[in-house]
Amino acid sequence: MNLSDIVDTRYATKAFEAGRTLPQATVDQLLAVLHKSPSSVNSQPWHFVVAATPEGRARMTRATADRHPYNTQKIQDASHVIALCVRTEMDAAHLAGILAAEQRDGRFADEAARAGTDKARRGFVDVHRYDLRDLQHWMTHQVYLALGGLLMAAAALGVDATPMEGIDTGPLDLELGLRERGLTSVALVSLGYRSAQDFNAALPKSRLSREEVFTFL
Ligand SMILES: Cc1cc2nc3c(=O)[nH]c(=O)nc-3n(C[C@H](O)[C@H](O)[C@H](O)COP(=O)(O)O)c2cc1C
Repeated sequence: MNLSDIVDTRYATKAFEAGRTLPQATVDQLLAVLHKSPSSVNSQPWHFVVAATPEGRARMTRATADRHPYNTQKIQDASHVIALCVRTEMDAAHLAGILAAEQRDGRFADEAARAGTDKARRGFVDVHRYDLRDLQHWMTHQVYLALGGLLMAAAALGVDATPMEGIDTGPLDLELGLRERGLTSVALVSLGYRSAQDFNAALPKSRLSREEVFTFL
């Protein structure tokens, strides 16, 4: 598939073929997309919980049982379900961990480069913490970038997917023990293969016109 085909055929899957499992090599490629997703100042303020078994997916349905039952089947019948989570703090330990990883991965020619990167990143974080006071939103934006990449990558690999904001994050956080780990859930993504009964597969894609969406200078 070329890029145009991927963009045109990707869609939000409404029903999955139960019992059909993605090859592990495909799952691994999709996890690499999340792992290597870009983030502002390489802040990586995320964590991903992957459910690959019926038991794991059943735990994910805690997110939909109360107010979003329309999403439950999409979790149960998928092959894999990923909870995209965001950190609740951008603390010193996390920032130190990023810097250590960059050092380990050979990003710094010398100590000045290392110190400069650390200072710039802390400055950026502090703008969001103190001046804009939107640190949690800013971190969540990074998680949505990862979500977008995952959806495109899934389509490129012939994997059907449903992003789900129709979830209750409180019950899901409790079920997965996220809050004690300094995390909270943002969205779920179900991955697998569409069911022949998926009404949405046959519907045409609908978007606002190009004229409304683009301005060319
Ligand atoms: C962040 C986000 C959250 C979404 N949440 C849900 C959801 O909870 N349940 C669902 O069935 N579809 C959900 N969708 C699918 C959208 O309704 C769908 O992407 C949109 O209508 C465009 O259609 P398409 O993706 O099929 O092109 C979500 C999409 C995004 C990007």
